[in-house]
Amino acid sequence: MGFDFESTAEIMIPKDPLARVIGQEQAASVSRIIAKQKRHLLLVGAPGTGKSMIARTIAGLLPPPEEEISVFHNAERPERPLISVKSRAMLELEKNEKKKEWGEIIEPYEAPSFVSERLGFRCRRCGDFSSPRALYCKTCGSDKQSRRDHPFGDLIPGSQPESSSIVHAMRIDEEEGINEPLVFEKTEDDKIRRLTQKEFEARNKANAKKLRKILVPLTRPTFVQLAGNNETELLGDVRHDPYGSHPEIGTPPYLRVTPGAIHEAHEGVLYLDEMTTIGEAQKYLLSAMQEKSFLITGRNPSSAGSTVRVENVPCDFILVGAMNINDLPALSPALRSRIRGSGYEVVLNTHMDDNDANRSKMAQFVAQEIRKDGRVPHATPEAVEGVLAESRKICRATDNTSGLTLRLRILSGIIKLAGDLASVNDEELITASHISQASRQAKSAEEQLEEKYGNIWNAAMADHGSTSKRGTETA
Ligand SMILES: Nc1ncnc2c1ncn2[C@@H]1O[C@H](COP(=O)(O)OP(=O)(O)O)[C@@H](O)[C@H]1O
Ligand SMILES: [Mg+2]
Repeated sequence: MGFDFESTAEIMIPKDPLARVIGQEQAASVSRIIAKQKRHLLLVGAPGTGKSMIARTIAGLLPPPEEEISVFHNAERPERPLISVKSRAMLELEKNEKKKEWGEIIEPYEAPSFVSERLGFRCRRCGDFSSPRALYCKTCGSDKQSRRDHPFGDLIPGSQPESSSIVHAMRIDEEEGINEPLVFEKTEDDKIRRLTQKEFEARNKANAKKLRKILVPLTRPTFVQLAGNNETELLGDVRHDPYGSHPEIGTPPYLRVTPGAIHEAHEGVLYLDEMTTIGEAQKYLLSAMQEKSFLITGRNPSSAGSTVRVENVPCDFILVGAMNINDLPALSPALRSRIRGSGYEVVLNTHMDDNDANRSKMAQFVAQEIRKDGRVPHATPEAVEGVLAESRKICRATDNTSGLTLRLRILSGIIKLAGDLASVNDEELITASHISQASRQAKSAEEQLEEKYGNIWNAAMADHGSTSKRGTETA
C-alpha cells in the first residue's frame, strides 16, 4: 500500500484524545468508562506502550474539580487543625457576600476627645482634627505625636503609647445607669469604628476562623503523578518546627500541614508509575481508597510534626497504577482485589498486525508525534514507510514475531531525531534517509555496546577488568 498524502501535515489527528492512543483498543474503551464511572485502573505493560499517556488522557476527560480543601487553626487544640471542604458554589457565594460590618463607624469628632487624641486625629494643643497619618497639626503646626505640646503633657501618667490604633474606654452614664466597656479603632479611611467589648470579641473570634491554609485549591490539575517510594509525598506530612514547643515564636501547626499526592488527586487521577515501588505504603493507599479520606500527620516520629494530626482529609481519587508484568507479584493482593472490585486490569499490547488499517494508524502516530514536538518538520510518505520498517524490525527483535511494534516511545525517539536532522539541514520534510540515519543513532546503550564488543557479556567483562585494575592501583 502506498500512502496517499504528500506529507504528514495532511493527516487528520482525531479530536478525541482516546483515538490518539494507537493499538490499545481495550485500554481506550475501558478508559472512557473509568472517567465516567470513577473506577480504578491497573495498566500492565512494556515500557513505552502508552501507560502514562492513557492515564493523562483519563485525567483530561474528567470535569474540573468542585471542591476546595483547607485546614484551619483549632483554637482549643492547635495540634489538631481542622479540615473544611467548600464547594465551588459555596466559594462563589462567599466571594459575593458583603463583608459583615462590626460595630459602628463614627466621625473622629464624635468620639470622646481623649480617644480622638490617642488615635492621632485631634491635636492635643489646639483641638483641631486632621488625618492620623499627618505628623503635624495643620492648624497650629505642633507635633501631634508628642505630648510636650500638651498643656499637661508632663503630668499625664502611665506608659500609654503616644498614638495607638485601638483605645479602650468606659461609657458611663449615671443617670441612665449605663456602664459599658467600649473599643475605638482607627479605620483605614480615617474614621473611627466604635464597638462594644462583646462585638470586639466576637469579631476577633470570627477573624480567628480566617486562620486557614488552602491545602488543595479549587483550580488544580486533575492529573497527579507519583514515581518512586516516597511515603511523605504520597500521604502528606506536617513539617518539623524547631520552635514547635514555643507557640509564641513557632509556626502554628496548621501552617505546617502539607497534603499528599492522594489528597492533591482528590476528584482527579492519581497515577502511580511503577506502582509496586511504594512497597509497604500499599496498605495506606488501600485504606485511603476505601475511606476516601486519610489523615495527615508528621511522618518522621522524631519531628515536632508527629504530634500534629489532621483527621479526615478527603482523597477521593481515581487510581491508575502502572507496572511491568514482572512486578505483578509485588502488588499487594488486597490492593489488587480492591482495584479489580471497583475497576479494571488491562494488559497492554506490545505489537499489532501489519495490515492496511494499522499502517494508517502508524502514519497517524507519526503525524501526532511531529505536531506534539512542534520543533520538527512533517514527514514524507517514504519516511513513514521507513518508520514502519523500523517498527517491524523492533517487533521481530523484541517480541520475536511479525507485526508492528507498539513500543512506541522508541519510534517516537527515532522520529524526533530524524526531525532534528532535517531541521539542522533546513530541510522542509523528514525523508526516509533521515529516518534510517536516526535509527542508527537511536540505538540503545546495550545495542551500541554489542556492536563495539561483540556482545554485552564481553562489554561487561571489559568494564569489570578496567575497574579491578583501577582497584589494584589504588590499593
Ligand atoms: N499507544 C500509544 N499511542 C500513541 N502514542 C504512544 C503510545 N504509546 C506510547 N506513545 C508515545 O510514546 C510516548 C511515551 O509513552 P508512555 O505513555 O510514557 O509509555 P509508558 O508509560 O507505557 O512507558 C508517549 O508520550 C507517546 O508519544
Ligand atoms: Mg510511563
